[in-house]
Amino acid sequence: MKMRSGSLFRLLIVPLMVSSLLAGCAPENTQPDVVLSDPVESALPEPQLDGDVSVERSLSERRSVRDYSEEPLTLEAVSQLLWAAQGITDQRGLRTAPSAGGTYPLETYLVAGNVVDMSPGVYRYDPGAHQLSKVQDGDIRSELAGAALGQQFVADAAINIVFTAVFERTTRAYGGRGTQYVYMEVGHAAQNVYLQAVALDLGTVVIGAFHDDDVAELLGLSQDEQPLYIMPVGKL
Ligand SMILES: Cc1cc2nc3c(=O)[nH]c(=O)nc-3n(C[C@H](O)[C@H](O)[C@H](O)COP(=O)(O)O)c2cc1C
Repeated sequence: MKMRSGSLFRLLIVPLMVSSLLAGCAPENTQPDVVLSDPVESALPEPQLDGDVSVERSLSERRSVRDYSEEPLTLEAVSQLLWAAQGITDQRGLRTAPSAGGTYPLETYLVAGNVVDMSPGVYRYDPGAHQLSKVQDGDIRSELAGAALGQQFVADAAINIVFTAVFERTTRAYGGRGTQYVYMEVGHAAQNVYLQAVALDLGTVVIGAFHDDDVAELLGLSQDEQPLYIMPVGKL
């Protein structure tokens, strides 16, 4: 579809002009600000764009699940969950979850403990390339459970997806209101993971009760990045 220059102006400039009130739809920053030292990158299987479970079925069966089996997750399931969280679904870089003005403040981490053909460690998801960068070796699930006030199911789950945010990406466009937008956005991403988990016959729960500083230290987050949600995922 051809875009008129007036439309382009509205997409790119107007959101900034009314920054304190409106969340526009221009993807102005799809690149993460976080710089990794010597990342090890691994490609993920292509996400599936079709499945056997309807969105209505996923909605009706969605529940917070805290009991998981000890079975490992497949790389295909991990790929699908990360794509549901923040995958790219449009040539312009737009994603599965909406973002105020396309500012994309969220970062998505995988704390892998029990995944077929994947070594335990902390990985960061790169939506653009649909691949993972390893940021740390080793299984930190027990430490993460400790940081989450001892919620044991964090340690029991095969993986944990951790959402963090660089608030500045959104507040630079929307001022103080951008802070609210970031919290709204992580809710969208987390619900996507919930629904995808149902469709894959997996269990998950959102965890908001944790010590921010401890989680930030465990994941090696930069100063401008804050953890928002932990989502343990495991087989039922
Ligand atoms: C913002 C927020 C924070 C939450 N934090 C936790 C948590 O730290 N630990 C936990 O077990 N569940 C947590 N939950 C999950 C709720 O306990 C759960 O959604 C609620 O009991 C309703 O159950 P349902 O999700 O199965 O419908 C949280 C939910 C929300 C929305």
